[in-house]
Amino acid sequence: MTKAFLSPKLIIAVLAISTLSACSKDTPSANQAPVKATTTPPKPTLSPEEVMLQKGRKLFARCRACHTLNEGGKNKVGPNLWHIFGRKAGTAEGFAYSKAMLAADIIWTEDTLSSYLENPKVFLPKNKMAFPGLRKEADREALVEYLEENTK
Ligand code: HEC
Repeated sequence: MTKAFLSPKLIIAVLAISTLSACSKDTPSANQAPVKATTTPPKPTLSPEEVMLQKGRKLFARCRACHTLNEGGKNKVGPNLWHIFGRKAGTAEGFAYSKAMLAADIIWTEDTLSSYLENPKVFLPKNKMAFPGLRKEADREALVEYLEENTK
């Protein structure tokens, strides 16, 4: 009789405790959020386009020290690249280009960017970008795609 009377209370108590502890586990969501963020992009659900852009983003790590992409981004060692597509070479405001870049009669497109990035010194002799070049066509394709997405 006492047992039967106590046990529902016990059950309620246990339930209450477990609910509370579940809540308190949830509350430090500051700890949980980053974990979720790193696990959310599950590879199988990425489209080929997204895979390409991710690859491009990784490759842009090689440019980031010298270039910003955003509107109004500052010129660093290299010029800001906002709206680079369709722009004439050597025309970012307030950047001190080499004579070679200023004299170059180049409009930046997927093709001209890819050729420049393959081997900057060969494509435009005496330009002052200290970057050895991306020899793999697939790398350039991904990087150019990433640039296109992030400079418009
Ligand atoms: C060490 C610094 C440095 C790195 C790394 C670098 N750049 Fe540059 N970049 C420059 C400089 C400096 C110029 C200007 C060259 C000139 O005036 O001759 C330039 C010019 C350019 C231009 C022409 C911009 C214009 O306004 O005409 C593009 C496009 C460009 N870089 C893209 C890239 C990309 C993409 C990468 C990464 C793969 C990269 N750069 C890596 C320094 C760098």
